[in-house]
Amino acid sequence: MSHVFIIGSTGGVGRRLRKRLSASGHQVTGLHRKPEQAAGLAEDNVRPVELDLLTTDSETLAQAMQGSDVVVFSAGAAGAGIELTDGIDGRGAQIAAEAARIAGVKRFLLVSAFPDAGRGKQISPTFEHYMKVKRQADVMLAATDLDWVILRPGTLTNEPGSGKVNVGLAIAYGEISREDVAAVLHSLVEHDEVKRVIIELTEGEQPIDRAVQQIGAYSGR
Ligand SMILES: NC(=O)c1ccc[n+]([C@@H]2O[C@H](COP(=O)([O-])OP(=O)(O)OC[C@H]3O[C@@H](n4cnc5c(N)ncnc54)[C@H](OP(=O)(O)O)[C@@H]3O)[C@@H](O)[C@H]2O)c1
Repeated sequence: MSHVFIIGSTGGVGRRLRKRLSASGHQVTGLHRKPEQAAGLAEDNVRPVELDLLTTDSETLAQAMQGSDVVVFSAGAAGAGIELTDGIDGRGAQIAAEAARIAGVKRFLLVSAFPDAGRGKQISPTFEHYMKVKRQADVMLAATDLDWVILRPGTLTNEPGSGKVNVGLAIAYGEISREDVAAVLHSLVEHDEVKRVIIELTEGEQPIDRAVQQIGAYSGR
């Protein structure tokens, strides 16, 4: 069983992930920024840590991460504008990776974005900026010595999970439910042989655990 530190534990993906991990016996710590979110985390048997990514620093975050085996970064500004995207998806991911290094937590799972999101559509400057910042976070993380995994899901939906996905190094664009993204992250927590690899993810036909195990063959060193 692992001790998992989730950044974004109150979000659409993070909430589903924290419930799954804690129900299957993992020890979970969840970062949250509003005091009133602590009770919900505790109800799910998750240890709440109150910190705001916009105002904290890597040393403070590292202290909170002490003793964790895995960090999952699933936070995001959710299209709230350029400055917040820079602060959360950009600087937030950067200080989280730095904190993991300081705290000696090797494994770091980053929820990124699918490169084709928005292709062929009229996209706003905010969305273009979001895609740029997500890409910069990937570049930042891939240059670290951490045992990172960068997960690039297609457009997220709130549909029930199907338990079946398409996972690969380069796949056709599509949608995926937040529940299935959480299930893939859960599986990645349990398959630490999958590391230093960028994975694209959409809904599909393959059972999640088998799909994640197969990706292990492409892991880097
Ligand atoms: N939407 C899509 O189609 C799509 C596609 C691919 C990838 N993604 C990425 O997938 C990830 C998860 O998406 P989601 O739908 O679960 O996002 P979400 O529901 O918007 O959750 C975002 C999380 O980030 C937290 N957060 C925001 N600002 C924060 C701050 N200043 N300090 C600490 N935490 C903060 C939120 O906390 P609060 O609960 O307090 O707001 C929440 O827990 C995101 O990184 C997103 O960019 C999204």
